[in-house]
Amino acid sequence: MQNALAEEYRRLSRDTTTHQPLAYLRLRRAIRNVIQHRDIEPGQTLPSERDLSQVLGLSRVTVRKAISGLVEEGLLTQRHGAGTFVAERIIKPMSRLTSFTEDLRARGLHPRSEFFERSVGEVTPEESMALNLSPGMLVARLHRVRYAEDEPLAIERSVVPASVLPDPHEVHDSLYEALEKYNCRPVRALQRLRAVLLGARQARLLHVSAGSAGLHIERRGFLDDGRVVEFTTSWYRGDIYDFVAELQTD
Ligand code: GLP
Repeated sequence: MQNALAEEYRRLSRDTTTHQPLAYLRLRRAIRNVIQHRDIEPGQTLPSERDLSQVLGLSRVTVRKAISGLVEEGLLTQRHGAGTFVAERIIKPMSRLTSFTEDLRARGLHPRSEFFERSVGEVTPEESMALNLSPGMLVARLHRVRYAEDEPLAIERSVVPASVLPDPHEVHDSLYEALEKYNCRPVRALQRLRAVLLGARQARLLHVSAGSAGLHIERRGFLDDGRVVEFTTSWYRGDIYDFVAELQTD
């Protein structure tokens, strides 16, 4: 692992196309890449700060700075006295507006979706309130189970104004990638989370027992001009996902 990381760091240092002059950012990217390529697996320990600084010829302050950023992102975890590990549970910082696909890829996992529904129809009263749409307007609906490799992690139901996404079949695995093509990826979102017990059907789809703990999440995503571009309701498995929020005093 140490070799793979050192090699990746050196490769990035030579690479003129993606040249990153700041060593701690280069190291951060190298660590991210080795996690993504599964040169280091979830749960495994990262080489110590001292070893990394020796092998890479960097100061310990630089190494620490690189690592602390990845701890904040949730990619690494630190246990006092035990070192730094690649996070096992999927730790999702709540302050960053990322997609399911990006969160999983960052951990070297392959995300995919299985759809129950991709359709266009008239907005329901609830959807019209959530999306600020007038009755009679059309929306695209996506209903799917989200997987990491073959492991189901979440059930999601997304509603997007059809004026933004006229054909929901354009969404293959990632909604945000499809929205990006139309320059309509949300730039801000409001999210509500609450703990739930998963019902029998949800539990079956998520391969857990009925009554297991889950997280119910609602997200309204906004464009720069304030238009609501998505209303997504999700049920996440409680045994795999951690949502982490950073709190600051004013
Ligand atoms: C998360 C959010 C959803 C959002 C989705 C987009 O799962 N809870 O609100 O729609 O990410 O992810 P992707 O682009 O992978 O479909």
